Amino acid sequence: MELGTVVSVGDSPNTYEYYFVISKGAIAKKGMYVYTENEQGLVLGYVSDLVRSNSYLSNPEVVSDYGGETLKQHFPIEKWDYLLGKVKIVGVLSKTSPKRERASLPPIPGNSVLKCDDVILKGFLGIDERGISLGKLFGHNLEVKVNLTRLFQKHLAILAMSGAGKSNLTKVIIEELLKRKRGKIASLIIDVHGEYSGLSKFSKDVVVFNARDFRIPFSSLNVDLFNEIYQLTSAQRSLYNSLWDPTITFDEFLNRISRAEKKSAEPLLRYLLELKSYNLIGEEENPRIEDLLKPGSCVVLNLLDISEFKKMQIIVFYLLKTLFFLRRISVREQKRIVPPTVVFIEEAHNFARSFDKSIGMAKRQIELIAREGRKFNFSLCLITQRPSHLSQTALSQCSSQIILRIANPNDQKFISEMSEYVDNTVLRELPSLGVGEGIVLGECLNAPVFVKFRRSSIGKTSVALSFEEEALAWEEEERKVIDTYLDSIDLEE
Ligand SMILES: Nc1ncnc2c1ncn2[C@@H]1O[C@H](COP(=O)(O)OP(=O)(O)OP(=O)(O)O)[C@@H](O)[C@H]1O
Ligand SMILES: [Mg+2]
Repeated sequence: MELGTVVSVGDSPNTYEYYFVISKGAIAKKGMYVYTENEQGLVLGYVSDLVRSNSYLSNPEVVSDYGGETLKQHFPIEKWDYLLGKVKIVGVLSKTSPKRERASLPPIPGNSVLKCDDVILKGFLGIDERGISLGKLFGHNLEVKVNLTRLFQKHLAILAMSGAGKSNLTKVIIEELLKRKRGKIASLIIDVHGEYSGLSKFSKDVVVFNARDFRIPFSSLNVDLFNEIYQLTSAQRSLYNSLWDPTITFDEFLNRISRAEKKSAEPLLRYLLELKSYNLIGEEENPRIEDLLKPGSCVVLNLLDISEFKKMQIIVFYLLKTLFFLRRISVREQKRIVPPTVVFIEEAHNFARSFDKSIGMAKRQIELIAREGRKFNFSLCLITQRPSHLSQTALSQCSSQIILRIANPNDQKFISEMSEYVDNTVLRELPSLGVGEGIVLGECLNAPVFVKFRRSSIGKTSVALSFEEEALAWEEEERKVIDTYLDSIDLEE
């Protein structure tokens, strides 16, 4: 479908961008993919902005002297009103080879600009019919389906401000994983707010595990593990090691430490008592981590009941450490213990902070997996509303990024510095995106796309009621109590 004509304005067309005058009656939308032909081939790009222009009204002094209404009466102003589309060039489908190339020649002024049809777009963007369906491409009726390997192998980040639609999108991705008939992978969700438990109604392959019941076996709590949690001095390490015995109980070990007449015993005892107060150490591991993940299944670790921040850190640290260890064994020794897995971490900035060195155990694991996970098909999907608080090491390893609305200038600046895919065109769009809209960037597709993500079929994602909903619910409850009371009086009379 023809949309307009390339024009020569200022220093454009160049190999990065061009403008085109939109033909009367044609509809071009922001984010829409268009192409124009030149000597190199079909130059593809997306509409990054729309500008309205009218030469009659370009001189403010004239408009000020006569006023808009007088001008309208005397001149055919409407006829001179036109729309200009600005296009960000993303590549060329060459005439000589089937491959996608960088634009080395600018578009030709005077040539037509056409809307890309689905066939051209699918090939150009690298849409995979068997991939994960995220939603519809802006301005097209095309489903954006991304290849599983390209989306996850080198980790994914979902970044957006609060309420922009991160959890909804995560549920969409999980639903897609659960629906897969072939090439199934396992998924684990670190669910801080308990908002994914409803997934179990969607599929029998979803298992919800309440972190309240999480136990680390005492027999695993050797000096190395304990040191990762509490960063011991060498004297503390050697005392711990000399008294630790996997065949005794946690309480017996506590006794041994409390009776040890050494200076290093006191901090050790304090640490151990803290672990005891968390009720985290048991005789048996719970859940049994080597049996936890199955292809095609999704495990939700519900952390809603855990109020202590450090306890949360320890649980996530131990779970990720053990899973990644078992996954490496599975690959190296070709054992079927932990299948290819994606770990979705909600509020990832709480577990892998850019600053705050004091609580680093979960962060170290997340950074390790971010660096090495791809060699073992063990991937991360980091979800955060505060990208600038997230570990740069972890974020920089996420080769695919989905960014929804972001209004905070610090977060915008951080993202533009961190991501090679975020340029000024993308950055400018971030604050104006609507709920559930975003930009898919990086290795998962051949070019950036603006997407209206679909709504998850699990329904409302947020667990909390709105202010007004909750106020109404309270009133409703109170009215019921009063009605019951009044009914009981009526009966007595
Ligand atoms: N793609 C979408 N289509 C329609 N509505 C959506 C979409 N995504 C999100 N919403 C709406 O926006 C609300 C907030 O979405 P969601 O809970 O996913 O945001 P969030 O980014 O996870 O927020 P938070 O940072 O608070 O966790 C949802 O309850 C839902 O009603
Ligand atoms: Mg959320």
